[in-house]
Amino acid sequence: MKDRFGREIDYLRISITDRCNLRCVYCMPENGIAQIPHKEILTYDEITRICRCMTGLGVHKIKLTGGEPLTRKGCATLVAMLKNLNGIEKVTLTTNGILLGEQMTDLAAAGIDDINISLDTLDAASFAKVTRRENLNQVLEGIEAVLQYPQIGLKINCVPVLEGPENLVSVAGLAKKYPLHVRFIEMMPIGYGREFQFRGEEEICQILEKVYGTMTPVKERYGNGPCHYYRIEGFQGKIGFISAMTHKFCDQCNRVRMTAEGFLKACLQYQTGTDLKGLMRSGCTDEELTEAIRKVIWEKPVSHHFTSKEVDEDEARLMSQIGG
Ligand code: GTP
Ligand code: 5AD
Ligand code: SF4
Repeated sequence: MKDRFGREIDYLRISITDRCNLRCVYCMPENGIAQIPHKEILTYDEITRICRCMTGLGVHKIKLTGGEPLTRKGCATLVAMLKNLNGIEKVTLTTNGILLGEQMTDLAAAGIDDINISLDTLDAASFAKVTRRENLNQVLEGIEAVLQYPQIGLKINCVPVLEGPENLVSVAGLAKKYPLHVRFIEMMPIGYGREFQFRGEEEICQILEKVYGTMTPVKERYGNGPCHYYRIEGFQGKIGFISAMTHKFCDQCNRVRMTAEGFLKACLQYQTGTDLKGLMRSGCTDEELTEAIRKVIWEKPVSHHFTSKEVDEDEARLMSQIGG
């Protein structure tokens, strides 16, 4: 369906857990973070019910995120449940990759369409600095595991949080070595992200062009998200940018988000939305649930305001609770 600004909303991002096996410095603190109690997390049946109602409103694409979605037991079961719904075209996953080695066979059997792996550096010491953990090899094994399935699209998400050019050059090089796309994400001032400066698209392009040659914009989209891409001669995959700071894309926004505890959020930054779990657990009908979802989509804010001085309470919310 369209929101009140005429944007077609066809994509739902679902955070299925707030827990994570990494502690990226721009996302989560090492300790002291209150986790949502299990009984407050939507069950897979509840998630599937919401998605079934959403298909009636024209939402056809679903992204599973976290926290780290693969830390929740049976993620592949949920993928299969959602893929079985009439009207769902794509179910995709954004993961830190650590558990892909173990779970890739099940995810592929369940019919996962695309996978995005978050990886900010290929250097073990830097990985430990950014994530406060030492799982780089498992992530690299996760990449290899996905590459065994050429029908499943693979993208790498890199938030350039480290100084210097080396890191950007080596992560981008993955798209030369393998048939996958590498995307650089401008850090957004949400949660701990507020403590970091973003590195902008123009700066990164300049660095990469010096090493790899001309970057030519392409029209293709490779997913449901706001990323735009460039081609480099000799590369198997593309280089993409998600530039929420320097190339605001809210006028083309096509999505709403749901937190693990069932709060349907209309925008990454704002608190506007509705508690769908409360509604469902108080015994609402599918019609009432669909109506509540319709209202959230209709009232979606026009854009984020990351670069203004205006403050919204939700900016303090952790990215791991929203799902990116
Ligand atoms: P694909 O459709 O698979 O390309 O995924 P995606 O780009 O929609 O999502 P992914 O989970 O890989 O997220 C990549 C980055 O994009 C994360 O940093 C998200 O926070 C950011 N992102 C996704 N959707 C939005 C959005 O609506 N607004 C903003 N500002 N950032 C977003
Ligand atoms: N700004 C931009 N991207 C972020 N991510 C986590 N926190 C931020 C932030 N503040 C990214 C992760 C992952 C994706 C889901 O969101 O690195 O790739
Ligand atoms: Fe976990 Fe992703 Fe947050 Fe890193 S950015 S701590 S991998 S949820």
